[in-house]
Amino acid sequence: MGVRFLKLHDVSTCSGVPHLKIESVKFCIACLFCFLKEEKNVAANPNIKLTGKERVFDRDEILVSKTNPKGHLTYTNDVFIRLAGYTEKELLGQPHSIIRHPSMPRCIFQLLWSRLERKKEVFAYIVNMSKNGDHYWVLAHVTPTFDSEGQVTSYHSNRRVPSRAVLENTIIPLYKRLVEEEDRHKNRKDGMNSASALLESILEEKEMSYDEFVLSLAANHTDDSHTHEGSAQS
Ligand SMILES: Cc1cc2nc3c(=O)[nH]c(=O)nc-3n(C[C@H](O)[C@H](O)[C@H](O)COP(=O)(O)O)c2cc1C
Repeated sequence: MGVRFLKLHDVSTCSGVPHLKIESVKFCIACLFCFLKEEKNVAANPNIKLTGKERVFDRDEILVSKTNPKGHLTYTNDVFIRLAGYTEKELLGQPHSIIRHPSMPRCIFQLLWSRLERKKEVFAYIVNMSKNGDHYWVLAHVTPTFDSEGQVTSYHSNRRVPSRAVLENTIIPLYKRLVEEEDRHKNRKDGMNSASALLESILEEKEMSYDEFVLSLAANHTDDSHTHEGSAQS
């Protein structure tokens, strides 16, 4: 099959990392993988039973991870390892979705990857799942790293403690609404697109871009980093 049949897959129609699409066949291995995942639990590891227990970390701590362009972990710092509950050996080489929590709307990751694909940074509130089923909330800043020719060589993420008030009042109810919208659709892609449209309409009402929204939340609540435990979904 000639190279001309291969083109970058449109990630807006498929959550996850960019991949090659074989035009003449109309699906690629990664799409097939998405298709097979369709009816399954969206958590990376459906065998992990959620405990409902939240892990917290200090305001002066930063969780750091780096990935290759496919989103596979190449570096994790000690704080990341402690919260995730895996050993470094278990983490390195794995897709970042190893810590994906089922309460996270797919449309937020779609947004994250579409930003990274356009070589842009992104800020996002994310709830992650530890190896034992605990969860922990972070405010993540994710950036691409470039070589001298401007090509993306890796991705980098720093995560800090989010404000408890922002989580309780805004993010947890918003993500619950988005997940409900995604789950209303039988088809995973339709659900994600519909939740993205919902997020867009919420932002339009606020007359804010996604960045303005996230940064306004962070800016308004710098003094109440969350030191007590809560749920992943209210
Ligand atoms: C640098 C970087 C950091 C990421 N951080 C997280 C994270 O903390 N939690 C998470 O669930 N996904 C994170 N992702 C997104 C994952 O790659 C993946 O898209 C997400 O877990 C959804 O996985 P799924 O599409 O298999 O459901 C990160 C991606 C990159 C490139």
